[in-house]
Parts: sequence; structure tokens; C-alpha cells
Amino acid sequence: MSYEAILVVREDAVGIITLNRPQALNALNSQLMDELTAAVDAFEADDGIGCIIITGSEKAFAAGADIKEMKSKSYMDVYKEDFITAKWERVTRTRKPVIAAVAGFALGGGCELAMMCDFIIAADNAKFGQPEIKLGVIPGAGGTQRLTRFVGKAKAMDMCLTGRMMDAAEAERSGLVSRVVPLADLMTVTREAAKSIAALSRPAVMICKESINRSYETTLAEGIRFERRVFHSLFATEDQKEGMSAFADKRPAEFKHR
Ligand code: CAA
Repeated sequence: MSYEAILVVREDAVGIITLNRPQALNALNSQLMDELTAAVDAFEADDGIGCIIITGSEKAFAAGADIKEMKSKSYMDVYKEDFITAKWERVTRTRKPVIAAVAGFALGGGCELAMMCDFIIAADNAKFGQPEIKLGVIPGAGGTQRLTRFVGKAKAMDMCLTGRMMDAAEAERSGLVSRVVPLADLMTVTREAAKSIAALSRPAVMICKESINRSYETTLAEGIRFERRVFHSLFATEDQKEGMSAFADKRPAEFKHR
């Protein structure tokens, strides 16, 4: 498939998707989301890919859903097409790890897309926000739900009710992003993280991701039970034998499944 609204690059075992509508600060229109879904599908199906990065430009990760595209939609339009979430949820169903590398604006659907990834590495110029309230609506792709789980009720209410932006330092303090790095280092640091994940045992990485995500969907006791079962299951893999033998032999592990 050829892409117009995104750039797709494969660097060894890392797949990089760059949102690319600079004229609209990477506003997420339906074409871009269709292309993003196709690119994620392709990387998911590609056995050679161990980690995916989604990024934007230095000025904007994405300034939200495309307001110009949605402004004249009626209730029946959005209801019938199950507007936004039906298409956007693909990233959340990816079994391989997905890192969001965020510089500049991550607003509305842009912030929501970043939160659908497994973790966010932010440049020091990043700004996060859910300004939908200023448009007479509310976040529609998980903003009221995921943001609340990441930063807690007080900050989520503050962000969603006032529509104010949070800078990178506040986002890190609040638990929204895992690290903040200088803008110039954003892609180097994110590539390093992605490469190091892609070099590990693929089943261990995918099961680890699944287990952490389970903690959002279940009770602590059920989550612990799930973790124990999948932890046990990894002892059936050649990579567990290799990883532990390599440690004992004081040599780097050569995982088979990656
Ligand atoms: N949709 C469509 N176009 C957008 C856009 C968006 N979300 N955000 C920016 N653009 C366009 C602007 O219209 C402008 O285009 P023109 O040059 O053709 O006028 C271009 O991108 C550059 O934007 P600005 O001139 O506004 O740039 P700025 O630096 O002055 O301001 C900004 C930057 C503060 C991010 C401002 O663009 C802005 O507030 N954007 C809208 C943010 C927003 O409300 N996002 C939420 C969208 S709703 C949503 O996402 C629903 C959901 O939950 C899924």
C-alpha cells in the first residue's frame, strides 16, 4: 500500500510510522487513520518487526481529530459510522509493543492516540491536552477514561474541563509519559528503546505487555493469577532456557524468537 498522510519506514526490527500532514499539524483525518491502521496491520503481520514507533513532527505529534472534517457531521452520521473509536482502536489491539515519540502538540485525539500506545517518550517541547470541551464536545477516543487512569481524577478533570495544556515536565510528574528528553534526542532515545525491546524474546515481550494491560481490566487478585499463569507458560519457551543459561554462562543471550 502507498501512503500519503503518513511515512512508513522499517529499520531492522523496528517499524516507524510518522504522521505527516504538516499543513494541518497532523490533524487525524479519516485518510490518515485508515493509513495508520493499515501500517500497524502490516507491521503486526511482519515477523521481522519487534517494536513499532508512532511519531509526528517537531511541532506536532497531532493536534487532534480533524475539526474541519467533522464539523458538519450529524448525530446519525457519527452514530452510524461509530465515529472515531471504531477505526482508532486498532493501535490498542496491537500485540507487539508500540512507543509514542511525542514532540510539540499532542491535543485531543493526538493525546488519545499517544495514550493508546504502550508508553510515551516526550520531547521537552511536548504539550498535552484534551481541549474538546472548547469545541462544545468531550474527548471521544478514550480521553476521559485513559487520561484519568494515567494522571488521576483531579488532573483529568482539570485538563478535560478547562482544556488547558500540560507541558512535558508536568506530564512526566503526573505519570502520563515515561521519560522526557531534549527535542534533538527524541528519535535517538526512542529508537534505542525500540531496538532494545526488539532484541528480546518476542513471546516474553508480548506476554509482558498483555499482562500489564490486564491490570487495567481486572481486579488485583485476578491480575496476579493471570500473571502467574503466563509467567509459568514462559518456562515452555526455548528463550527462557537461553536467557537464564546465558546469564549463568556470563554471555549475551541469543534469543531464538525475535
Ligand atoms: N483539525 C483541523 N485542522 C487543524 C487542527 C485540527 N484539530 N489543528 C490545527 N489545524 C490546522 C489549522 O486550522 C491551520 O490550518 P490553516 O493554516 O489552513 O488555517 C494549521 O493546522 C495550523 O494551525 P494554527 O494556525 O492554529 O497553528 P497555531 O500554532 O497557531 O496553533 C494549536 C496550534 C494550538 C494546536 C491550534 O491549531 C489548535 O488549537 N488546534 C486545535 C486543537 C484541538 O481542538 N484539538 C481537538 C480536536 S477534537 C478531537 O480530537 C476529538 C477527539 O476526542 C478524537
